[in-house]
Amino acid sequence: MLSWDEFDSEDTTAAPAGKPAQAKPAAPVADSPAMENQAESSVEDARQISADDSDAIARAKAALDELDIQEGLDDLEGSAARVQVGDKQMINARADLNQLVPFKYDWAWQKYLDGCANHWMPQEVNMTADIALWKSADGLTEDERRIVKRNLGFFSTADSLVANNLVLAVYRLITNPECRQYILRQAFEEAIHTHAYQYCIESLGMDEGEIFNMYHEIPSVAKKASWGLKYTRSISDPQFNTGTPETDRQFLRNLIAYYCVLEGIFFYCGFTQILSMGRRNKMTGTAEQFQYILRDESMHLNFGIDVINQIKIENPHLWDAAMKDEATQMILQGTQLEIEYARDTMPRGVLGMNAAMMEDYLKFIANRRLTQIGLKEEYPGATNPFPWMSEIMDLKKEKNFFETRVIEYQTGGALTWD
Ligand SMILES: [Fe+2]
Ligand SMILES: [Fe+2]
Repeated sequence: MLSWDEFDSEDTTAAPAGKPAQAKPAAPVADSPAMENQAESSVEDARQISADDSDAIARAKAALDELDIQEGLDDLEGSAARVQVGDKQMINARADLNQLVPFKYDWAWQKYLDGCANHWMPQEVNMTADIALWKSADGLTEDERRIVKRNLGFFSTADSLVANNLVLAVYRLITNPECRQYILRQAFEEAIHTHAYQYCIESLGMDEGEIFNMYHEIPSVAKKASWGLKYTRSISDPQFNTGTPETDRQFLRNLIAYYCVLEGIFFYCGFTQILSMGRRNKMTGTAEQFQYILRDESMHLNFGIDVINQIKIENPHLWDAAMKDEATQMILQGTQLEIEYARDTMPRGVLGMNAAMMEDYLKFIANRRLTQIGLKEEYPGATNPFPWMSEIMDLKKEKNFFETRVIEYQTGGALTWD
C-alpha cells in the first residue's frame, strides 16, 4: 500500500535497499500568523507576470486576479459553517453537502464500503460454455431461449433507467453526503450491470438492436419500463425541488417506485429464471453475471429501504394514511406487472418452474417490501417456492462474499508515479 511517509522526505530515497526509511514526525500545521504571511506573499510572487511567461500564461495569471472566491463558494449547497451531526438530514438539509464527516448515517457509509469491497467486472466471467450452448441447434429449448432473450431485453435497459433516475433526480435531492457517496457507488454498479448485459448479448452473438429495443417492442417489458419512467419524469425537471409536503411526497414516491418496485420486485422474476438455468448447468456464465448483479441489487434495495424509513422518521407528517395507501398501491401495481411478465416469459412450465409458482413467489416478495417500509402484508400466507433464492440474495452476505475469488485490482499500491 502507498504511504504518505514515503513522500515526506528526501531521506526516503537514500534508504538502503530492503530497509524502509524511518517516517519523520508529522510537520506542524502552517497556522502561525508569521507562517501565514510568508505563505501569502509567496503565493502573490507566483502570480507575478514575468518576462519568461508566454502570452497565454500571462493571460491565465491575469484572469485569476479577477476571480471572486466568495462568488464561487456562494454557489455551494448548504451553509458555510463547519458541519455538526445534528445539522444533517436526508432531505432539505441546510448543512454543507461537501463535508462528508462527521457521519450521521453510519449504515450508509458502511454500505458504501461493502459495495467497494464487492467490486467485480463482467469480463472476469467465462462465457465459453454459454456461447457453445447458445449456438448449438439443440442446446436449449425454445422456452429457455425465450427466457434468456426476454430477460436480457428487460435488464439491458432497466439498469440504465435506474442509473438515470439516480444521477438525474435522486442524487440532487438527497441532502446527505454519506448517502450521496453510496449513490455514486450504486450508479457505477448500475453501469457495470448494463455492461454485463451488453457483454452477454455480444458474447452470444445476439441481435443487439432487437434486445436493446425490446423495452419499446415487447409489451410485458415496455409496461414495466414505462411504469418506472413515470416516477422519474415527475422529479427530473431541474426546477423541481423538495421542501413542501407535496414535493417531499413526490420524491418519496420516486424512491418507493425505484427501490421497492423496480429494484425490489421487477428484477425478481428474471433473476429467478436465469439463476434457475444456472442451477441446471445451463448458461452458467450468464447466470454467474446475474448472481453478482443480484448481490449488488440486494444491497441497493436495502439502502433504499433505509433511506425511505429514515425520511419517514425525520418527516413523520409525510407518512399519513393517504401516503401509506398510495405506497401500498404502488407495490401492488408493481407486483401485478411482474406477474404479467412471468406469464409472458413462461407461457409453459420450464426449468422446474411455472408462472403460477412465480406468482406465489412475487406475492411473498411483495409482502416483504410492504413490511420493510412499515406497511401491512397484502397477500396473507404467501410462501416462497424458491427457498434457494434466499441463500443467494436475502441472507446478509453483503460482506466478503467474494472471499473465495482471487481478483487483484490495480490499487494505489500498484501504481507508479513516473
Ligand atoms: Fe443494477
Ligand atoms: Fe440497482
